[in-house]
Amino acid sequence: MVSKFSFFIILLVLHYLAVVCISQDFDFFYFVQQWPGSYCDSDKNSCCYPTTGKPAADFGIHGLWPNYNNSSYPQNCDPTNPFDESEISDLISNMSMNWPTLACPSSSGETFWSHEWDKHGTCSESVFDQHGYFETALGLKQQTNLLQALETAGIKPGEGTHSLENIKDAIKKATGHTPWIECNQDSSGNSQLYQVYLCLDNAGSSLIECPVFPKGGKCRSEIEFPSF
Ligand SMILES: *[C@@H]1O[C@H](CO)[C@@H](O)[C@H](O)[C@H]1NC(C)=O
Ligand SMILES: *[C@@H]1O[C@H](CO)[C@@H](O)[C@H](O)[C@H]1NC(C)=O
Ligand SMILES: *[C@@H]1O[C@H](CO)[C@@H](O)[C@H](O)[C@H]1NC(C)=O
Repeated sequence: MVSKFSFFIILLVLHYLAVVCISQDFDFFYFVQQWPGSYCDSDKNSCCYPTTGKPAADFGIHGLWPNYNNSSYPQNCDPTNPFDESEISDLISNMSMNWPTLACPSSSGETFWSHEWDKHGTCSESVFDQHGYFETALGLKQQTNLLQALETAGIKPGEGTHSLENIKDAIKKATGHTPWIECNQDSSGNSQLYQVYLCLDNAGSSLIECPVFPKGGKCRSEIEFPSF
């Protein structure tokens, strides 16, 4: 019979192992969406439409990225589980619409999705398989509906500038959570709305306030939202 004392020791060891395993995991996800108008209007990258055609004038998914509270993030966690398109064949047409690649040279999206899974997705294997990972991101795009959130607040793509605060407020009002807005610059040096970060808990189930915001990509207080 196991004595109470050794039972206690076993519990301690199990607890220690659990803590060690959890600390190797991650704390939350960034869910990042990008505005194609600003991707293509940037002074840095050129853009190429995917082989499936010009994407809709809507935010597209960039990725779902495991992150630590201390701002660093794990990457390329499991080379034994590379991107496998056959596991998500039912999602491909949805992904072509909602997760389009704008990188050059023009491609179908496979390179983009495979980069996202291999670099970031494999670090969330404790929560998601490949199908769950991509399906969750698609669901979050639908749920957050950024374009509608902005349009409801009278913020539409086109000429002119908008206050960064109004953009954040509109997204907070619609999603219930404070976004981080990343800007890039057009060739005239204007600051423009490039990417929107929201945070998801590490169970992959609900949006949360971000424990920490990314560094860099700072916006001016008045920014453009160029048409696409
Ligand atoms: C951040 O936290 C993770 C997980 O606890 C740890 O592995 C990593 O070394 C930390 N990074 C920094 C820069 O402190
Ligand atoms: C894409 O997938 C998401 C998540 O499953 C779903 O909510 C959405 O309706 C799908 N959209 C299209 C156009 O099929
Ligand atoms: C990370 O930050 C969140 C929110 O501040 C907190 O709830 C969570 O416990 C933190 N996780 C760790 C491992 O410190």
